[in-house]
Amino acid sequence: METTAFQLNPRTADFVKSKTIKKLFIGGQFVEAVSGKTFPTYNPATGEILAYVAEAEQEDINRAVVAARDAFEDGPWSRMLPQDRARLIYTLADLIERDADVFAEIETLDNGKPIREAKHVDVPLTVEHFRYYAGWATKITGDVIPVNVPNLHNYVRREPIGVVGQIIPWNFPLLMAAWKLGAALATGCTVVLKPAEQTPLSALYLAKLIQEAGFPPGVVNIVPGFGETAGKALATHTDVDKVAFTGSTEVGKLIMNYAADSLKRVSLELGGKSPNIVFPDADFSRAVPGAMQAIFFNQGQVCSAGSRLYIHKSVYDNALADMVSYADKKVRQGNGLDPKTTMGPLVTGEQLNRVTGYIEKGLEQGAKVATGGARADGDLANGYFVRPTVFYDVQDEMTIAQEEIFGPVVAAMPFDDIDDVIKRANLTTYGLAAGVWTQNMSTAFNVAHKLKAGSVWINCYNMFDAASPFGGFKQSGIGREMGEYALENYTQIKSVWLNYN
Ligand code: NAI
Ligand code: MG
Repeated sequence: METTAFQLNPRTADFVKSKTIKKLFIGGQFVEAVSGKTFPTYNPATGEILAYVAEAEQEDINRAVVAARDAFEDGPWSRMLPQDRARLIYTLADLIERDADVFAEIETLDNGKPIREAKHVDVPLTVEHFRYYAGWATKITGDVIPVNVPNLHNYVRREPIGVVGQIIPWNFPLLMAAWKLGAALATGCTVVLKPAEQTPLSALYLAKLIQEAGFPPGVVNIVPGFGETAGKALATHTDVDKVAFTGSTEVGKLIMNYAADSLKRVSLELGGKSPNIVFPDADFSRAVPGAMQAIFFNQGQVCSAGSRLYIHKSVYDNALADMVSYADKKVRQGNGLDPKTTMGPLVTGEQLNRVTGYIEKGLEQGAKVATGGARADGDLANGYFVRPTVFYDVQDEMTIAQEEIFGPVVAAMPFDDIDDVIKRANLTTYGLAAGVWTQNMSTAFNVAHKLKAGSVWINCYNMFDAASPFGGFKQSGIGREMGEYALENYTQIKSVWLNYN
């Protein structure tokens, strides 16, 4: 079905369909790229071009960093009371809530995700995230240290790090912008944010609301562009104090290298190959749909996706049969704008090829497909759709059990013994998340505490809250987003001594 078959909010239609170029947001103004270059962004459900976006490169990044530096050192932001910073962030949250429908539609058009998820997950979590961090702006306190010298007063301040470069991916374009901006703004930093080239539109709409909310110019700059040009320029820029990145582990390693030269602070939220472990005493009425949603949510394009499914051998055949039936009967693939759709297309043709390449690799290495295993055809042939895919009889060493696929593809494997499954679950370079399904609390806690993962979900999966930390063990990342923990990414400690002798 073509997009024109769906009625869009007039403001979405105006924003997405207008022929004008979507400009960079630098120093509080919408500006063209210095080079005048633009790039198209596509609707992955149909392959249509949605809009042309100004393409930031080195010189644009330089301009954005100057704007962010000026705002940090000299502009009104540098003198703003925490209460006023909080009020601006609350205002931004209110404006996002006002335009929730527009954001949901933009997100579905640009990324492909089901509108029901954009509406009920991405946008409300974004609003909550900004409100949560607005609250923190007034609660960043220091310490008084009882030093061992008479008549000396020593206190500790938590100061903003300064100008922050933020690079985000395409799987949750708006929410990832919120995760990055919330803590940075609460702490008083200024930001140059580079959205993913695949999905720049919601961040540019957000820029309009940042302007409307009344943030001083330069506090937030939004500069869409490609990774190797705009992203690299930002991560290597000598006047950027910190870089925060979400994306592939491969690029995360590059970012650390780029940052090394000027010893920028780095926080990274990277890939995963998260184990999801189903014990024989699980409540299967929850574990079966839970395990499928763990991998199929957002078309499997989730860093914490439950992509390795360990099922106890005593229940393996039955559970697998129920899961396959869930994949076949409960998943409704289609254009994300259709409210009945529960699985949209993958974000790009490149991602489609990557995912189908992994499926072929799985077959070559001897894994068996219980359902799916191919690109969708028929009505869906124009978009980048992959059938929800369940592999079984997978071996731990196979590529599909080791590498992040980032698509709706799960690798099911039987297990026998609790210690053995813990060992196998941890046998990965990643350590982002894990799931445990059991009604025995002793099993649940024991396994949860032994898994090397930044988040463990027991009898649930992919739960997120602005107040709860999220991030990776091992090669899944450095630092934590959300909660009080994320404030550490954007503050540094100053110890001040006063002699009152
Ligand atoms: P990517 O890591 O290349 O892209 C993420 C962001 O980094 C984008 O904004 C991109 O422009 C930027 N980037 C890319 N190369 C850069 C460089 N050299 N310097 C600075 N910035 C750079 O991810 P990509 O290529 O979109 O997807 C590839 C795979 O990465 C996916 O199949 C998936 O496995 C993984 N991925 C993981 C994500 C996560 O949330 N953990 C999100 C997106 C992708
Ligand atoms: Mg890449």
